[in-house]
Amino acid sequence: MSTAVGPQLRADADALAAQIAEFAAMTEPDSGPGVTRLAYTPLERAAHEHFAEHMRALGLRVWTDAAGNTNAERAGTDPSLPAIATGSHLDSVPQAGRYDGIAGVVAAMEIARLLHDQAIEHRHPLRFVVFAAEEGARFGQACTGSRIAGGLTTAADLNGKRDGNGVSIAEAMRSVGLDPTAVEAARWRPQDWRAFVELHIEQGSVLDTSCVPIGVVDQISGSTRFALRFQGRASHTGGTPMHLRADALAAAAQVVSAAEALAKDSRHHGTRITVGRLDVSPGSITTIPGECHAYVDVRDTDSDRQRETAAELVDIAHEIGRARGVAVSARPMADASPVVLPSWVRNAIVHACHERGLDYRVMPSGASHDTQMISGVVPAGMVFVPSLNHGVSHSPQELTEAADLAVGVDVLVTALLALDGMEHESPGELGETRCMTC
Ligand code: GLV
Ligand code: MN
Ligand code: MN
Repeated sequence: MSTAVGPQLRADADALAAQIAEFAAMTEPDSGPGVTRLAYTPLERAAHEHFAEHMRALGLRVWTDAAGNTNAERAGTDPSLPAIATGSHLDSVPQAGRYDGIAGVVAAMEIARLLHDQAIEHRHPLRFVVFAAEEGARFGQACTGSRIAGGLTTAADLNGKRDGNGVSIAEAMRSVGLDPTAVEAARWRPQDWRAFVELHIEQGSVLDTSCVPIGVVDQISGSTRFALRFQGRASHTGGTPMHLRADALAAAAQVVSAAEALAKDSRHHGTRITVGRLDVSPGSITTIPGECHAYVDVRDTDSDRQRETAAELVDIAHEIGRARGVAVSARPMADASPVVLPSWVRNAIVHACHERGLDYRVMPSGASHDTQMISGVVPAGMVFVPSLNHGVSHSPQELTEAADLAVGVDVLVTALLALDGMEHESPGELGETRCMTC
């Protein structure tokens, strides 16, 4: 056995495209354009089952943990060693594209096929993981499956967060046959894991515009999410003079503009603030909005700046509300810290790019990822592949070429096998370790 087989393995772009198309067909009926496959729904479970069937057919041991994460393990030659893993997620935002999360899952499926077909051996067990409920679109909180694995979310936390219909995460889990009270059993133990590397689409345009095929992620942004409630006074749009109004939507709109200005000012370089949803009540063209809820997402790679900016925006909202006679209250929804990924895993990916003769760029991730949540338990890294169409994501316009994805899979499998070949006790810089491929 040698990890030098890595470069000989070539992902099949057509097979990747075919799997992407299979998953894209699994969408809620009548949900509009793109793919809608929300967290902890029967459709998400069906997508996990499609992955599981593929892995079982390749002879892998497959199981679903209490969080709904699906795991497939290919045995290593030394069962005493901790696992090396890759994976991503299969749930989506409403009206999503085909690639966010799915790219990393089909990469895992293709790697399992390549290793099987070419009878490649590895020392460590190789695990392929599909995390449940990565998207925060349904419950506000992102990465529920990986947060549970990483010990960041407990059974008690699953009752508090609810979707737009008032369904809690725990209730949604029960509705798809999972037991939310048992999630402690899904928590990963550091001693069971050697390294984890996730492939994901970039969800930005840096790689495409710079014609670089691979991104090697060094840090992942955190996010603080909260709901602002504006309580004004509903009244007749014709009868109520402008100076006597307490318009909840006008106050919210002013906060949206202030949020944009705050994120753009020089103190907040790199901060991203988005109000992605406004619920206006009563929602009638002839009634002044009496109540409005705004959902805010603050992202940053600097954890202090992330939290300080969120607090500053809440203060600004209160000020705007006071000036307009609109009562403002803030409700925290979710909070995840940014992470810096370890350099020795990153260097294994860089090393894989060198072996494949590929240019790469070390870059941060503005989006959240499952990798972020398990990185406290297992040393982790990420491979980005280019997003086309100006880098749009969370949109049906999301696009990654199958050939570009195949290049990413080649790098990923090479990195996984390089990690497998590295000496167990040498988590230093790759160049300083006894790496079997160096
Ligand atoms: C995950 O897609 C995120 O919202 O960053
Ligand atoms: Mn994703
Ligand atoms: Mn996403």
